Amino acid sequence: MAKKKINIDQLKVGMYMEADIQESVKGSSNKNLKLLGKGVLITSANQIRRIKEAGLANVTIDTSKGTDTEGGEVITQPNLETPKQREHKKKPLPPGRKTEYREALKIAKKTKSAVTNALKDVMGNVAMGGTMDQAKLKVAGKLMTQAVFQNVDAMVGLTRIKEHDAYTAAHCVNVATLVLAVAFADGMDQATCEMLANAALLHDIGKTKVPLEILNKPGRFEPHELAEMRKHTLYGEEILIDMGGISEEMMFIATQHHEMWDGSGYPHKLTGQQIHRFGQMTAIADVYDALTAARVYKPALPPHFALNRIYGNRDKEFSADIVDLFIKSLGLYPVGSLVLLNTEEVGIVYEPNPLNPKKPKVGIIRTRYGKERHVPVVMDLDDASAGEQREISQVLDPTKYNIDIEAFLKRIAS
Ligand SMILES: [Fe+2]
Ligand SMILES: [Fe+2]
Repeated sequence: MAKKKINIDQLKVGMYMEADIQESVKGSSNKNLKLLGKGVLITSANQIRRIKEAGLANVTIDTSKGTDTEGGEVITQPNLETPKQREHKKKPLPPGRKTEYREALKIAKKTKSAVTNALKDVMGNVAMGGTMDQAKLKVAGKLMTQAVFQNVDAMVGLTRIKEHDAYTAAHCVNVATLVLAVAFADGMDQATCEMLANAALLHDIGKTKVPLEILNKPGRFEPHELAEMRKHTLYGEEILIDMGGISEEMMFIATQHHEMWDGSGYPHKLTGQQIHRFGQMTAIADVYDALTAARVYKPALPPHFALNRIYGNRDKEFSADIVDLFIKSLGLYPVGSLVLLNTEEVGIVYEPNPLNPKKPKVGIIRTRYGKERHVPVVMDLDDASAGEQREISQVLDPTKYNIDIEAFLKRIAS
């Protein structure tokens, strides 16, 4: 810290005095002091004498420009930069991220849209009894994996934006993204991740054999409908065997993604390590995407609360180490979390901070006085130079506030 307030008696030759003399001795008749201007290096005892004569009790010194002294009061600098300037200041990229988040978001958005369209075609074709367009699927998996290896946070951030379609292609893209994020956090290589992406995109391919009236039923299922719906794991296995060219371990993604660690899942009620690691990873991703999506019979659970629920099922429905990897991938406050800051401001998390998960970037949408901001002010909670230390004090439920989080995220991503 460069600036210090010291007692006038501590002022010595060699120090750089920062005080604005004109301001400090306003009303003083000593006109000579004006010559000192806004800051001056103290070069003589005579200068010190004149400053003392002006009646100053304390002065500010800049220890980066002159000598320092023991004691004194360190002055925290007010940050005169605008939030926009602060945001644009280049920070080093977090480990494993090759592209800056905002830039990566543009690539991620295009990738997600291309992959979703490709998967809609693939699933639609299978549903009509056609063959699987494996070439198209391969390209989709490759594109997703490339985007994840550029900046995993941007791809994961987009999973907060939900779409609906007949065969849940958008859901499959979200699940595949989350599975890839876990694989990336686990240090898997790009080639394995590509195969994983292909298989995760197809985790619900069996739903193409479930009658549409059951698949798209808005309310809860009757027992016989539920039984049919659950068969999608077995149908998926059949389709993938017919398709050929998929390894057994990749096939586990379709067949085991509803098995639970504690044996409470389906179709085979497998437990613990009987469930392949890929199946376990997909199970968490699948539950998270379902929890955070709105249904006719239930509102969307905010991401932070969904993570809490998954954490609560650590060693119950889900294996502990994959839960930990999942939380590491999404951050403590996933993108789209509505948060209350210690300054009483309300904001939406829009960029995670892998190096300091408690301090993401937040778009402030409500001031401390309760005024709504139509254009969110971006705050980097990890910016130590910000005048005021902002921290997240609470995660809020957006359904209790009239805030369209998805609209906000779409704006940021555009
Ligand atoms: Fe499923
Ligand atoms: Fe699913």
